[in-house]
Amino acid sequence: MSERDVVIAGNWKMYKTIPEAEEFVGRLAPAISDIPVTVYLAAPFTAIHALSEKAKGTKMVIGAQNMNDASEGAFTGEIAARMLVDAGAQFVILGHSERRHIFGESSAFINRKVHAALKNKLIPIVCVGETAEERKAGKTDEIVRRQLTESLEGVTAENVDSLIVAYEPVWAIGSGETPKTDEVQKEHKLVRDILADLLGQEVAEKTVLQYGGSVKPDNAKSFMDLPDVDGLLVGGASLTTESFAGILENVSTSQLNI
Ligand code: PGA
Repeated sequence: MSERDVVIAGNWKMYKTIPEAEEFVGRLAPAISDIPVTVYLAAPFTAIHALSEKAKGTKMVIGAQNMNDASEGAFTGEIAARMLVDAGAQFVILGHSERRHIFGESSAFINRKVHAALKNKLIPIVCVGETAEERKAGKTDEIVRRQLTESLEGVTAENVDSLIVAYEPVWAIGSGETPKTDEVQKEHKLVRDILADLLGQEVAEKTVLQYGGSVKPDNAKSFMDLPDVDGLLVGGASLTTESFAGILENVSTSQLNI
C-alpha cells in the first residue's frame, strides 16, 4: 500500500455561479466526511472565497484553475497567486491542456507559474499530456518528459513543499475516450521516474499523481487500482453531485449519503 493520499479533484472549468457552487459543496461535504479520500475543487475565481468559507472544517479543499506568475502589475484580466491565497485557495491547476492549446501557454510560462505557486504555498497541480497526433507519432513519452521537465525547471526538493502532477492525454479530455489502463500506468511510472531524476526519490515517492481525461463513475476505480495512480482530475463528471459522488463511491467503495 502506498502512503500517498488519495486526491480526487474536480475541475469545474467555466461553469457554476456562486450559489450553484455553494449548493454543490453544501450537499457533498457532509457525505464525504468518513471516506479516505481528499476532495479538491477547482472553482471559478468568483466562487473561491465563498467556497473556501463553506468548506472550512470539511474534507474539501478549494483551489483555482489558473493564475499568472507575476505577484502584481498591469496585467489586465489576470490574477496573482497571493490573490488566490487571499481568497482561500489552497491549490492551483497549472498547464491544463485548455490553457496550453486554446490560450497558447508555453511550458516556460507554466514553469514561472509553478515557482510563483510554490512561493505562495499554493499546491500546484501540473498537467501534462500528449495530443492525438503526438500519440499517433509514438511521441507520448517524449512529450510527457519534455512538458514535465520544462514545467519543473529550477524546482528542487528544497523548494517543493507539495506538488501534484496530472497526466491528462489531450485527446481523452471531454471525448469519452480513455487510454488503456496499462498505458496510464506506464505514463504514471514514467512521471514518477522523471520526478525522481529531477527532485529525488523521496519527493517522487510522496508526489500524488492523478489521471485525467473522461473519468466517469464506471471507470474511476480501474485507474485508481493502478499502482502509480493516486488520484483523478475530473472535468465533466465533477459538475453534478450525483456523478462526482458516483466517482467517490467507486473509488472508496463506500455508499455516500447525498
Ligand atoms: P473531462 O476533463 O473529465 O471532462 O474529460 C478533464 C479535465 O479537463 O481535467
